[in-house]
Amino acid sequence: LGQAFRFFPEVDSTQNAARRWFDDGAPHGAVVLAERQTAGRGRMGRQWVSPPGTGLWMSVILTDGLRLADVHALSLMAGLAVAEALEAFGYRPGLKWPNDVLLAGKKVAGVLIEGQGELDRLYFAVVGIGLNVRLPEAFPPELRTIATALAEHGPPPPRRKLAAAILSALDRELRAYRAEGFGPLRERWLVRAVSLGREIAVETGGGRIVGRFAGLDDDGKLLVETAAGLRAIASGEVRL
Ligand code: BTN
Repeated sequence: LGQAFRFFPEVDSTQNAARRWFDDGAPHGAVVLAERQTAGRGRMGRQWVSPPGTGLWMSVILTDGLRLADVHALSLMAGLAVAEALEAFGYRPGLKWPNDVLLAGKKVAGVLIEGQGELDRLYFAVVGIGLNVRLPEAFPPELRTIATALAEHGPPPPRRKLAAAILSALDRELRAYRAEGFGPLRERWLVRAVSLGREIAVETGGGRIVGRFAGLDDDGKLLVETAAGLRAIASGEVRL
């Protein structure tokens, strides 16, 4: 991954730049990086604040060896890869389903997967990773209670080293998943999971589900033990 890469001082979103590059023949593993995004986006239609000099804004284009059914595993893998990369620099990150990376309980990185496919064929996936390196001065106060940055936890490594470490961890996770399937990936994810075995609430399209966080099923769905029995949740927002 990252053999081919493009860097933009400013771009709307590295996700869009990656998509444009895919349409224009980007190879598997091509990476787009930007100093600043003017329309960075997060999961569930949210905006991702990405001013210059404050974070790593990166999108990875994957075109080979994935089926549509692998997208859930890919989503867990991407958060896990960021966590593993941060561990290599001495941080102690935690994971919040499906792919938030936390430091001391606050979000330091997020992952957005976009792509296109049909039935058993995935044409491409764009894995977007946003990692806060320092908090911008104009950071909204209401975000300070839920978000953090590497610099709040010691001097951050240079962004190119962070990018290289994340790409090599993601590469390793992709190979391991192809060779071993979902089981070992789930184990590596769960040992870093925050609030496993504890009470959580999940906002889903169909309402709020409260119960004990019991793990992940074979598809990577979130398992919650509720008063009405075990529920497997495919998408939603976890509140710890
Ligand atoms: C989330 O936690 O909601 C996901 C945030 C993903 C942000 C990254 S920054 C690089 C890439 N480009 C975007 O516009 N979004 C992703």
